[in-house]
Amino acid sequence: MFVCLFVCLFTEIMCAAPNIENAEIVRGQRLNYRINSRIKYKCHPGFEPEQPVHITCDSQTQWTGIQQCTEIMCAAPNIENAEIVGGQRLNYRINSRIKYKCRPGFEPEQPVHITCDSQTQWTGIQQCTEIMCAAPNIENAEIVGGQRLNYRINSRIKYKCRPGFEPEQPVHITCDSQTQWTGIQQCTEIMCAAPNIENAEIVRGQRLNYRINSRIKYKCHPGFEPEQPVHITCDSQTQWTGIQQCTEIMCAAPNIENAEIVGGQRLNYRINSRIKYKCRPGFEPEQPVHITCDSQTQWTGIQQCTEIMCAAPNIENAEIVGGQRLNYRINSRIKYKCRPGFEPEQPVHITCDSQTQWTGIQQCTEVTCQFESIITSGVKRIIPEGQTVFKVGENVEIICTEKHLFSTKETSKSFTCQSNGKWDRKPGCEITCEVPHDQQVSGLEYYFRGDMKLGAKRSYSCKSEYRKTAEEATCTRDGWIPKPLCAEMMCDPPRIPNAEIVGGQRINYRINSTIQYKCSPGFEPEQPVHITCDSQGQWTGIQQCTDGTCQEQELKNIEIIFGYPSLTSPYKSGHILVFRCTDDNMRFYGQYSVKCQPDGRWNYPYPQCGGTVQCSKPTKNLQFVTLSDEKTEYGNSESLIYTCKKPYNESAGGVLMCQNGNWNGTYNCRNKICPPPPYLQHGDYSIISTKDDVITAVSYTCQSYYVLTKQHEVYKCVDGKWETPPKCLRPCEIDDIVKKYNLQLPTGKVYIRHAEKYRLNCRDGWNTGSEMKAYVDVSCSDGNLQIDKSCDAQNNSK
Ligand SMILES: *[C@@H]1O[C@H](CO)[C@@H](O)[C@H](O)[C@H]1NC(C)=O
Ligand SMILES: *[C@@H]1O[C@H](CO)[C@@H](O)[C@H](O)[C@H]1NC(C)=O
Ligand SMILES: *[C@@H]1O[C@H](CO)[C@@H](O)[C@H](O)[C@H]1NC(C)=O
Repeated sequence: MFVCLFVCLFTEIMCAAPNIENAEIVRGQRLNYRINSRIKYKCHPGFEPEQPVHITCDSQTQWTGIQQCTEIMCAAPNIENAEIVGGQRLNYRINSRIKYKCRPGFEPEQPVHITCDSQTQWTGIQQCTEIMCAAPNIENAEIVGGQRLNYRINSRIKYKCRPGFEPEQPVHITCDSQTQWTGIQQCTEIMCAAPNIENAEIVRGQRLNYRINSRIKYKCHPGFEPEQPVHITCDSQTQWTGIQQCTEIMCAAPNIENAEIVGGQRLNYRINSRIKYKCRPGFEPEQPVHITCDSQTQWTGIQQCTEIMCAAPNIENAEIVGGQRLNYRINSRIKYKCRPGFEPEQPVHITCDSQTQWTGIQQCTEVTCQFESIITSGVKRIIPEGQTVFKVGENVEIICTEKHLFSTKETSKSFTCQSNGKWDRKPGCEITCEVPHDQQVSGLEYYFRGDMKLGAKRSYSCKSEYRKTAEEATCTRDGWIPKPLCAEMMCDPPRIPNAEIVGGQRINYRINSTIQYKCSPGFEPEQPVHITCDSQGQWTGIQQCTDGTCQEQELKNIEIIFGYPSLTSPYKSGHILVFRCTDDNMRFYGQYSVKCQPDGRWNYPYPQCGGTVQCSKPTKNLQFVTLSDEKTEYGNSESLIYTCKKPYNESAGGVLMCQNGNWNGTYNCRNKICPPPPYLQHGDYSIISTKDDVITAVSYTCQSYYVLTKQHEVYKCVDGKWETPPKCLRPCEIDDIVKKYNLQLPTGKVYIRHAEKYRLNCRDGWNTGSEMKAYVDVSCSDGNLQIDKSCDAQNNSK
C-alpha cells in the first residue's frame, strides 16, 4: 500500500504479486499485475487445496479468490478405551508415527504403533477390547441362571453338578484378573469306594470306585466264612449293603461234660488248635486229654469223662435192695439183703468209697436151725432121727403120742426151718392150728406164719367178693374160729330214708344183684331207681329221696357268715351259705360258699378249717433278689419285701404277701436285654454265657432222680426271649399201692426215675398167672407208677 501510494501516483495502478505461503504462481511470477489480471497458483505438495486456485486482481488491487495452502494432516485417531502415549494432538503430519495404549482391562496390553498415511488415514489401528473370561467349561455341570459367552473380570457366578455328581452344593467361581476362573471344583460322579472287607476278595477284579446300584460279589478267604460268595450293592448313599464280615472258621469250645479246659476256655479255637482238658475229680480218664480242632471244625480225640464208679457189688447169696445197677457213684450208699436162708437178715448198708471199693460188706452166710432134742414130752418119734442141724426149708417131722390131739386129728406134724434160723413153730407135740386153706383167706403165708398154738390170734384178709367174719382168727382146739373165716360178700338191705324197695326187702343181697326202690309220695325222684350190689358189698346208684331241702351239717372250726335267704335251715333249693374259719390263722379247705341244689344236695361239701396257714420262702429266682427278712416260713398275711439285684434291677423290687398258704406273686426282676432264665421246677440251670453280667445262655439239669426231657442242650435268650426250657420228669415212689396188685412192697423207700423199670416180687403165695411168674416189672412215667400186671393167681397149694 505504501508502495502503491508512492508508485501509483506516478504509474498505472496494479496488484502486487500475491504472497501466498506454500504456494507457487503457475507459469511465471511477475512483480505486478494489472487490474483484472487472472492468475492461478498451486499449493506445494503436502498442502491443499491440491487443485490450482484461480485468483483475480480486483479494481481495488486486491486479489480475490485466495485460498490459503494448509498442510495436509491426519486428525487425531479416535480409539475407544485407549490413550495416546505422550499426549494427544489435534493433527498429525503425514507419516507421523504415534503409539497408544488400551485402558487397563482392555487389550492388546502392549502399546500399538500407528502411522498417518498419505491418505491421512491411520494405519495399524487395533481396537481395544475388554479382557474377559470365556464361559467356564465344567463337565457334568450347569451354570445357574444360564450361560453367557463371556464374563467380566471379577464376575462371580455359580454352577451345579448334575444329579449323581458331587459336590451337591452349588459352587461359586470368580473370573480373576487373569481371565481365569477361580474356585472351580470338578463334578465327580458319586460312587462307592471299593468295599474294604477283611479276609475277603472281590470276585472278578477290584476297582477304585463303583457306580451307584453296582452289584458285585466277594468271597471270603479260605478258612473264613461265609464260604459262599456274598453279593453286595452300592446304594444311593454310597454305602455297600449286604456286607457280611468274613469270620474265621473255627471250632466252638468243646462241650465235654464234667471236664474243664486246661488254661481256661475260649469261645472259639482256630483250625489245628490243640488244647487239653481234664475231667472233674471223680471222673476219668484222670490224665489230661489232648484234642485237636480239625479242618471240619470238629474236635478229634475227645474222650468222654465218665464218672469213676463202683461196679455193682458181687455178694454171694445176696440181692441189692431196690434193684441192681451196673455202676454206682462214689459215696453211693446202697443196701443189700441176704437171700432167704442166709444172714445177716437185716439189710446191710454199704458205701462206694473214693477208691471205688465197697465198704461195709458182710458176707451172707447160710442160716441153719438147731433141733433141740429136749422137746421130748409126748414125742414118739422124730424123722429124720439124730439130725440136729437143719438148713432153711428143711423139715423135721415129729410123731406125737396119742394123748395129745392136734386139731386136725393128726398125730404127726412137720416143722420147717425158716430163713431166720428159727423153726416155723416150736417143734413139739402141742395143739397147733394148720394154715387155713380152702377158706377164701388171701395171703395165707403172710398172715398164718410162725407158731400157731392154741390161743394164737391172727389178723387176716379175704379174697375179693368175700368178707371177714371177724376182726381176727383165733386158734382153738377146733381149729380157727370163726368158721368160716371168710363169708361170701353180700349187701345189706339198702337204707334209704323215705323210700320203699320194690317187691319187698330181703335179709341180704348177692354181689351183682340189682333191685329197685321208689321214693315215698312227695319225694323225688319219682321214677323207680335201680341200684346194684357191687363187688365190695356196697350199693351203687343210690339217689336219696328228697323233698328238695338240703341237710344241715356239722360245723367244726368254721362258721356261716352269710346265708341267703336266711342264715338258718330249712335250706331249700337255691339257698346259699358262705363260710369262714373261726380262727383267722387256720387254713381253709374247700369252697367258700355252697348252694343247695334241686335234688336236695349241696353242690359242694361243707368246707373245713384246720392247721395254720404258712408260706415257705419263695425260692424261684431267689438268687436275683435281696429279701428284707430272711426266714424259711412266713405267717399268713405276712409280707415279704424284696429288692432286685444287679443286673436284673430294671424294676426295683416289690412286695409279696402270704395269702392262705400261697404267695400272691413271684419275684419280678427284669433286665432290658434278657429276663432271668426260666425257672425249672425240680431243676436248676448252669450259666453258659453272659453279656454284661446278664445271662444269655444256660443249660439245665434236674435234681437227683428227676429226668430232663431233653439233654445236653444249650438254651439261649434270643431277642429278649428265652427258648422254651425242658422239664424235669418226676420220679415214682414204690408205695403201698403195689399191695393192691398183690405185689410185695420193698423194705425201705424205693424211688425209680422216669422211664426206669423196677422188678417187684409177688406177695408170697401169688403169681402173675403167666408161667407162674412171681414178679412184675413196674415202670415210672413222670411221677406215675405204671403197673401193667397184678399177681392175681395163687400158687398151687401144697
Ligand atoms: C359180677 O359181675 C362181674 C362183671 O360182670 C363179674 O366179673 C363177676 O364175676 C360177678 N360176680 C359174681 C359174684 O357173680
Ligand atoms: C441297677 O443298679 C446299678 C448299680 O447299683 C445302677 O447303676 C443302675 O442305675 C440300676 N439300674 C436301674 C434300672 O435302676
Ligand atoms: C401282693 O400283695 C401286696 C399287699 O397287698 C401288694 O402290695 C403286692 O403288689 C401284691 N403283689 C402282687 C404280685 O400282686
